[in-house]
Amino acid sequence: MISGRMIRPLRLLITILGAVALASLAAACGTEKISIPKDDPNYQANYEAAHLFQQRCSGCHTFNYAATMGSAANVRTKQAINGPNFNVRCERPVDRVLYAIENGGFSGAYMPANIFVGAQARQVAQFVATYAGRGAPKQPGVTTCQFQPLGTLPPPTATAAAAAKK
Ligand code: HEC
Repeated sequence: MISGRMIRPLRLLITILGAVALASLAAACGTEKISIPKDDPNYQANYEAAHLFQQRCSGCHTFNYAATMGSAANVRTKQAINGPNFNVRCERPVDRVLYAIENGGFSGAYMPANIFVGAQARQVAQFVATYAGRGAPKQPGVTTCQFQPLGTLPPPTATAAAAAKK
């Protein structure tokens, strides 16, 4: 039997073990690397955006360029909960990505709106549009994502411009 005096240290031990287990899980997530090609003319901006994506979009979207794999485990409901896999899903032109960030995807059902706003939202949109869809299987009659027009973002709103100046 565990005596009353033993319970407190035991609880502490369990808490510590739990924390260690969590820490090792988190560390395992970082084993894949962000892989923005060095010859990208927007290397710095896209590299930062990949980090932002990793921080706030990785729970739901798989995307090799940001080293993320989503997190839903059930294969049948995975696509609905996880959202599109950006390795294969083309996201051009870029303004559709900004729209999705502002509105929480296109259905507004699962994805939270405004996870990023202002300059960061634009930066992440540019990154996603640039690199999404590169792993898509080639289909006859369909232009490969990389050769579809990237498009341009609408001019920043007054608030976004003000945030960018800070
Ligand atoms: C809670 C899960 C979740 C998070 C977090 C999330 N998304 Fe989504 N996202 C989804 C789901 C589910 C869809 C598909 C349904 C829809 O469009 O409403 C989606 C759709 C999208 C689309 C439209 C894709 C298409 O072609 O239909 C884009 C672009 C997108 N997300 C980008 C992002 C970005 C960028 C972030 C981080 C700022 C992010 N998402 C964070 C779940 C998420």
